[in-house]
Amino acid sequence: MNLQPAQPEKLNAWERVILPDVPGLQKIDFYLANGGYKALKKALELKPEEVIEEVKKSNLRGRGGACFPTGLKWSFMPKKSDKPKYLCVNGDESEPGTFKDRQIFEFNPHLLIEGTLIACYAMGMTAAYIYIRGEYGKWIRMLQKALDDACANGFVGDKILGTDFSTHITIHRGAGAYICGEESSLMNSIEGQRGYPRVKPPFPAQNGLWGCPTTINNVETISNIPVIIKNGWKWYSQVGAVKHPGPLLVGVSGHVNNPGVFEMPTGEPLLEIIHKWAGGVPGNKGIKAVIPGGSSTMMLRGDQLEGIRMDVDSLKAAGSSVGTAGIIVMDSDTDLIQVITRITEFYYRESCGQCTPCREGTVWMYKILKRFEQYQAVAEDIDLLMDIANNIEGNTICALGDAAAWPVQSMIRRFRDEFEKRVHESQHRVVA
Ligand SMILES: Cc1cc2nc3c(=O)[nH]c(=O)nc-3n(C[C@H](O)[C@H](O)[C@H](O)COP(=O)(O)O)c2cc1C
Repeated sequence: MNLQPAQPEKLNAWERVILPDVPGLQKIDFYLANGGYKALKKALELKPEEVIEEVKKSNLRGRGGACFPTGLKWSFMPKKSDKPKYLCVNGDESEPGTFKDRQIFEFNPHLLIEGTLIACYAMGMTAAYIYIRGEYGKWIRMLQKALDDACANGFVGDKILGTDFSTHITIHRGAGAYICGEESSLMNSIEGQRGYPRVKPPFPAQNGLWGCPTTINNVETISNIPVIIKNGWKWYSQVGAVKHPGPLLVGVSGHVNNPGVFEMPTGEPLLEIIHKWAGGVPGNKGIKAVIPGGSSTMMLRGDQLEGIRMDVDSLKAAGSSVGTAGIIVMDSDTDLIQVITRITEFYYRESCGQCTPCREGTVWMYKILKRFEQYQAVAEDIDLLMDIANNIEGNTICALGDAAAWPVQSMIRRFRDEFEKRVHESQHRVVA
């Protein structure tokens, strides 16, 4: 797995800004020597509402899965509050196929810290929590070192850079639950409660962490903030796709010669990402299926990828979504029944159990898929599976239920032949 921020030479026209090609950037001296913390200085010279306006006009959309406009989210925060306001930076990164935030922890942690500070200044927060996946021990240590250096250099803490702005940042490690990446479970987890999602409304901007106004943003989203402030909203909004602009960290895994995380502008053609950036499919095999944005996004047929681009509109039109831009490529020899069974097992095991459709539905989908996998399914099982998925979707407090239903629904819609073939093989199988 290529976990260095590397890029094929021929595609180097894009000068990386989230993971620049500068070795040693994780050290504060190098970061400062390369213009680090200048965006913070610039932001502190603006009024907080001007910073929010800049982010709004940039058209930055969240990189945590839902592509929600970040400036709009920030504007939901009350300007005045008699309670403290909080920022939660979401680095739980537990979606199968997604491994891009850890590149930021490793190669450019000060960019994340700088973005966190600017976000706190813009929304009037005096405390931020960076929530990291518990299994990321190495990356937690790296981020902690960067944070300690930022504190020692006066960028984090009281009266930052001699102004009246003060903010403290705490790193909070998760304990191995995918559900704690969901924003309201994440807040419960920080509070020391069980990681159950909360019913919305009230939304976090009104009633979040400890009942106080809170904003939750993904690590990559926050790392885009210094880039916007430094280069201005106009520059940023012209990078990549118009309605979903900016640099995008795209993780490619599965059947490709050069798996890894690549920084590129949004809107790159999916086939180009697979063949040029990720080096194509081993043995020049065909592509049977692609999951474009982490395991919860709708599966696409390999023979229908022409013209699809990595941006919100293009993938929506293709019947899927950008999600966390974690592309999983499956070659023509892949047993998709095994794939969907494994994905569904993940959601069944990670369901927190709070909502009945998700708790019961995921286990039933898994049991039925196991029947397919073990050549024991009958034709009626295909529609039964679809019926269960349809009854989970939209009927749960959080989107884990949808995340479990979508891969199953899309696979039945787009690869019904795989299920039918399995039923046929089950009926004609000679068991010794
Ligand atoms: C089950 C589940 C797991 C999630 N895991 C993550 C995660 O690991 N990281 C993340 O940023 N967002 C995750 N999300 C999305 C968050 O709830 C939230 O939308 C996101 O952090 C907002 O950040 P953004 O607006 O910057 O994209 C998850 C959502 C669900 C339903």
